[in-house]
Amino acid sequence: MSESKRAAGRRAAEFIESGQTVGLGTGSTVFFTLERLAERIRDEGLEIRGVPTSIDTETKSRGFGIPLATLDEVEKIDVTVDGADEIDGAFQMIKGGGGALLREKVVASLSDRVVIVVGADKVVERLGSTFDLPVEVVPFARAVVHRRIEAMGGQPALRMRKDDSSAAYLTDNGNEILDVHHADGIADAAALERALHEIPGVVESGLFIGLAHAMVVGEADGSASVH
Ligand code: A5P
Repeated sequence: MSESKRAAGRRAAEFIESGQTVGLGTGSTVFFTLERLAERIRDEGLEIRGVPTSIDTETKSRGFGIPLATLDEVEKIDVTVDGADEIDGAFQMIKGGGGALLREKVVASLSDRVVIVVGADKVVERLGSTFDLPVEVVPFARAVVHRRIEAMGGQPALRMRKDDSSAAYLTDNGNEILDVHHADGIADAAALERALHEIPGVVESGLFIGLAHAMVVGEADGSASVH
């Protein structure tokens, strides 16, 4: 598992060029991109500045010595490298397994190019078939949003903290997450994305439609292919 993530994550770092502003995604696959970027900064003098999509990535990037900037400081992002929880043949994705969907979507939307790094097990025919859809909600409206999503046919479950199962997980933005199961998968991801955004109290959904330009798929044998 981690060999395929490592292969994809490190391969994507090879696309980055000096002078670029780079969106830094979140998760265990992007970790290997950060690791490789740090090597290139050290060994080749690669000059970049990164815009992290989570506090976790910011912390890891600082540890690797990658120069960082905030969204306020950059005019645009040349390329973003990010992971996904599922991706289909049209590069539609489910993201947010790590809770960073909102900042990830903001950064992706500002990027000239978005490269997704995944192990081969994340590539699916139909979104929602292996992973529940994270939806970030304002805590005040959680119960209302829960009922609205149920009425739409989804089965939401409030995400709890890993270290305290009696407390709701909170995102970097102080919101909660409903992980929504779809028994038959998601038939029309774009339509569901629009419907979720019509519910007051929904901050963002983990459906990423039309945002990715390329995908790097890692295999267990350590190889990676670019699509
Ligand atoms: C973070 O919220 C997610 O969108 C991640 O990008 C996604 O969960 C991929 O994570 P891994 O690379 O750890 O599988």
